Amino acid sequence: MTGFSADWLALREEADHAARNEDLALKVANHLAGHDCPLILDLGCGTGSNLRALAPLLGLEQHWHLIDLDPDLLSHAKAQLRDWADYAEVVHSSLVLYWGEQKLTVDCSQIDVNKDLEILFNKPPQLVTAAAFFDLVSEKWITGFAQQLVRHSTPFYTVLTYDGEEQWQPPYPEDRTVLAAFHRHQASDKGFGPAAGPKATQCLQQAFSLGGYEVMTAPSPWMLNAQEHPDLMLALGRGIGEAAAHFAGPTAITDWQDALHYRRHAVIGHQDLFARPIAG
Ligand SMILES: C[S@@+](CC[C@H](N)C(=O)[O-])C[C@H]1O[C@@H](n2cnc3c(N)ncnc32)[C@H](O)[C@@H]1O
Repeated sequence: MTGFSADWLALREEADHAARNEDLALKVANHLAGHDCPLILDLGCGTGSNLRALAPLLGLEQHWHLIDLDPDLLSHAKAQLRDWADYAEVVHSSLVLYWGEQKLTVDCSQIDVNKDLEILFNKPPQLVTAAAFFDLVSEKWITGFAQQLVRHSTPFYTVLTYDGEEQWQPPYPEDRTVLAAFHRHQASDKGFGPAAGPKATQCLQQAFSLGGYEVMTAPSPWMLNAQEHPDLMLALGRGIGEAAAHFAGPTAITDWQDALHYRRHAVIGHQDLFARPIAG
């Protein structure tokens, strides 16, 4: 429905979890340590990867509200979270997961955050989070989003926002052309107006700083190699080629995609960001 398949999200999950910046994640965990059962809103949750990475770092009881536009991905999220947990049950329509000593209450809602962001603050969360999501939204939406969180003094943590840095090894002559075309596609409308793409982290940084927040960023690149991640490298390269084909000639794209089989390494840049109200 939004163009992200459960298969693609499953393929990238291990690399995503390995790439997340640990220091920043621990700062988030410290920040939430004083709350007995924090309410955490995960925007564009897909199949629940962000919960599976972050929840183990947080306290014994947590309440997650998973939001996505795509009902199919939300169904996958519920099924995959049940499989991930040691034990799961449904209580008053919430999914309750037991993982080690932790108890996680999980609610899922199909919501277009471009239209219905405000209703999510009827019960203000202790954290709003998102993974691999913010390069899809527009600069204008980021401004309104940050203002909404600042109004409620809500901390914000997002990971794996694409930052435009890519190095494919060995290099090929079409790399520059294809990357430039891919970046033009990154700026196209993904449902929020022209997308911020690789500028998203900078926009978030500015918007939250303007709201008086302390903003921390840290790199979280995918470090891929053909031995460990052959399927992910191929699928990623094909996806980049398909997106770039909107803005580059077919020969360059075909040559670039043919070369995927010879690539040994790829570094794909991402940024993580944690923004919190300055105490006092
Ligand atoms: C790249 S995926 C990331 C999924 C998940 N966070 C992860 O890390 O695996 C982007 C997600 O944003 C969701 N999405 C896109 N537009 C949305 C919108 N307007 N409202 C809510 N979710 C949206 C997609 O359905 C998809 O699940």
